[in-house]
Amino acid sequence: MSATERIGDLATSVGSMGRNGVLVLLSLFAIPYLCAAYGQIEPLVYDEQLLWVGGGAGQVNTYRIPLLSFTPKGSLLAFSEARKKSSSDIGAKFIALRRSTDRGATWSPTSFIVDDGSLADGLNLGSVVVDEEVGSVILLYSLCFHRYQCSPSSTMMVQSLDDGLTWSRPRNLSVELGVKSFAPGPGFGIQKRYPPAVGRLIVCGHGSLGGDGIFCVLSDDHGANWRYGAMLKSIPYNQKKQDLDFNPDECQPVEMEDGSIVINARNQNNYHCRCRVVVRSTDGGESLPVENLGFDTTLVDPVVAAGALQKEGVLYFTNPASTEHRAPTEHRINLTLRWSLTNGSSWEKDAVQIWAGPSGYSAMTSLVGGATDDRKYIYVIYEKGHKTPYETISFAKIHLYGGR
Ligand SMILES: *[C@@H]1O[C@H](CO)[C@@H](O)[C@H](O)[C@H]1NC(C)=O
Ligand SMILES: *[C@@H]1O[C@H](CO)[C@@H](O)[C@H](O)[C@H]1NC(C)=O
Ligand SMILES: *[C@@H]1O[C@H](CO)[C@@H](O)[C@H](O)[C@H]1NC(C)=O
Repeated sequence: MSATERIGDLATSVGSMGRNGVLVLLSLFAIPYLCAAYGQIEPLVYDEQLLWVGGGAGQVNTYRIPLLSFTPKGSLLAFSEARKKSSSDIGAKFIALRRSTDRGATWSPTSFIVDDGSLADGLNLGSVVVDEEVGSVILLYSLCFHRYQCSPSSTMMVQSLDDGLTWSRPRNLSVELGVKSFAPGPGFGIQKRYPPAVGRLIVCGHGSLGGDGIFCVLSDDHGANWRYGAMLKSIPYNQKKQDLDFNPDECQPVEMEDGSIVINARNQNNYHCRCRVVVRSTDGGESLPVENLGFDTTLVDPVVAAGALQKEGVLYFTNPASTEHRAPTEHRINLTLRWSLTNGSSWEKDAVQIWAGPSGYSAMTSLVGGATDDRKYIYVIYEKGHKTPYETISFAKIHLYGGR
C-alpha cells in the first residue's frame, strides 16, 4: 500500500464520523444532483508522476499526444505517440502504452503496441473508446494523415479484450470509411449511456485534405462496422485557410446526463475568439447543427488539444489556459483545470493551476465503478516541460474534494 493510499483511507474513516458526516446528510437532501456527498468540488493535485521522458535515450526521441482511459475492470491505460527520430508530427512512431491496476499509484513498464516501421508520415493518435457492454478497449489512429510522401490516408483500429494486456493486429477502417484524412481525437471516444442510441460508440476527430472540420465515426455493433456520422465543416470548406477563418480542429466529445453530446474543439484559426469552439449533438452523434454551435469565452485557449470530462453531473476541462499572445509554442503554458456545475454554461471561478510552466495537450478520465474511491478522483495526463511542453508526459491524480 502506498503512502497516498494510506492517507486516503485515513481521510475516509475520519470524514465518515466527523463534521463531514453531517454535511453528507444535509447535502443529500439539499443538492443531490451535485453528487455533493463529499462536499464542495475543490480539486487538489493529490499525486503526480512522469510516465514518459523524451530526450533521445533508447529508440524514442519524443513522446507526445497523451491519451488516458479507464477500463471496465477498473484499470487505467495511458497511451502516447513515441516519435522515433524527431519531435515532428510526421515521421515513424510507436504507440506506447503503460497500464495501472492500482488507480495510478504504480505503472507497468512501457510496451509498444503498434510499430509503423519507418514511414515518412507515420501514425498519429488517436482516440481510445471503451465498450463497457462487451468489455473491450478500442484505439483509433491515423496513418499518413498529412499525405507527406505517401497516399492515401488510412484510419486504423486496434482492440484489446483483456484489459489492455494484449492488442489485436491493426485493422484498416478506411476499407469501409474511405480514404479521407481523418485524425481521431486526440482524447477519448464515448459509448452512449443515455438515450438516444444507447451503446453506440462515437469517435470524433478532424479532417484535413479532402475535407476539414470536425467529423465523428459511429459504430452500433461494438466496433465491427463503422460509418461517418455528424460533421461540422470548416468555412471556406476544404480550401486554404487564413487567420480568423472558421476551422474547428482537434476535439473531445463528452456525453452529458441528458444524453446530448458536447464536443469541445480547438479553434484553429481563432475564429470569433481566442477560445474554444463548443458544439452539441442531440441525436446520438448523427448531426452537429450550426444552431447548436457556440464559443466559450471563459475557456481561453492558445490553439491546442484540450481535455474534457463529465463525471456525476460536473463538467471538467483542462488546457494550457494562457491568454498571452506570444510565439505559437510559447503560448502553451499554465495547464489549468476548470469545472462547471451548470453543464458548461458557466465555470467556477477557482480554477486550479496544475502546472505553471510549458504545457501542451491534455486528456482526462475517471473510473466509473461507483466505489467510494472512484467517485473522489479524476485523472489528467498532459504534456509538461520546463523549456518546451514536449519534454515529458505527466500523470496527475486529482482529488475532487480537497483531499478529504
Ligand atoms: C487501407 O484501405 C484503403 C482502402 O482500401 C487503402 O487505399 C489503403 O492503402 C489501406 N491502408 C493500409 C495501411 O493498408
Ligand atoms: C494561469 O492560470 C491561473 C488560474 O486560472 C490564472 O489565474 C493565471 O492568470 C494564468 N496565468 C497566465 C499567464 O495566463
Ligand atoms: C444539467 O443537465 C442535467 C441533465 O439534463 C439537468 O438535470 C440539470 O438541471 C442541468 N443543470 C443546470 C444547472 O442546468
